[in-house]
Amino acid sequence: MTVDAQPGTEDGIRIAGANKTYRTADGGHVEALRGVDLDIAPGEFVSFLGPSGCGKSTLLHMIAGLLSTTQGHIDVRGTPAAPGRADMAIMLQTPVLFPWRTVIDNVMLPVEILRLDRTKARRRAEELLELTHLTEFAEKHVWELSGGMKQRVSLARALVTDPSLLLMDEPFSALDEFTRERLNVELARLHDDLGRTTLFVTHNIAEAVFLSDRIVCMRPRPGEVIEVIDVPLPRPRERALVGTPDVVALENRVRRAIAEFI
Ligand SMILES: Nc1ncnc2c1ncn2[C@@H]1O[C@H](COP(=O)(O)OP(=O)(O)O)[C@@H](O)[C@H]1O
Ligand SMILES: [Mg+2]
Repeated sequence: MTVDAQPGTEDGIRIAGANKTYRTADGGHVEALRGVDLDIAPGEFVSFLGPSGCGKSTLLHMIAGLLSTTQGHIDVRGTPAAPGRADMAIMLQTPVLFPWRTVIDNVMLPVEILRLDRTKARRRAEELLELTHLTEFAEKHVWELSGGMKQRVSLARALVTDPSLLLMDEPFSALDEFTRERLNVELARLHDDLGRTTLFVTHNIAEAVFLSDRIVCMRPRPGEVIEVIDVPLPRPRERALVGTPDVVALENRVRRAIAEFI
């Protein structure tokens, strides 16, 4: 997929002069983000990469409309960032699943909340279970699943409403290395197939390079964007790419960009 990094504002995401300062309990303040300017094109896969405390989660939550900006503004598909949009889904590090519900019923949850057409959504849920290799577990309860399977359920649920925009905050960082790699290959395939705009927070360089069209490298105290690095690797992204000289060169480039700030 070729991606135009200069979107029209009406379909992409435009972050302009975004600052965030938190007030702390002792009356002080923390400058979590300073001066973030970024345009994201529809269909783009963009990672936010940096050490802990550089404002990645803060930025994602502001894009989701769950936190306000202290200064600046964020437009998502032509309207100011706001929570509860049907065209956006968010996935967190720890899957928020309902243990007493089956896999398919967890996947269908947003359909119930947003009161969408159940019959149509059910077909899509079944397709997504297929894509995430969960078909045979559809009627199992969440407590019967491994960590990697729970995150697959989360991913299927995030996609069931066919959102234009998928926000992911370190979705695989609690998983073991092997499971993480497998899920990254699956996520890349889903992205190649569905072409949804995806914003992916991580502190894992290899994962960012493997998945992204662009990597937004960040530093902490104050949280700032250091550099935005293009990832001109071919798509579809397949496991065979891992460890190739092009990939290693990009990983090193990203590591160098961030190294002086950690
Ligand atoms: N609710 C909050 N109140 C005060 N400070 C916060 C709050 N949330 C985050 N911070 C601070 O803002 C900075 C950025 O945090 P965060 O966005 O969670 O970074 P990251 O996701 O990159 O680890 C950190 O210094 C963190 O301690
Ligand atoms: Mg975070």
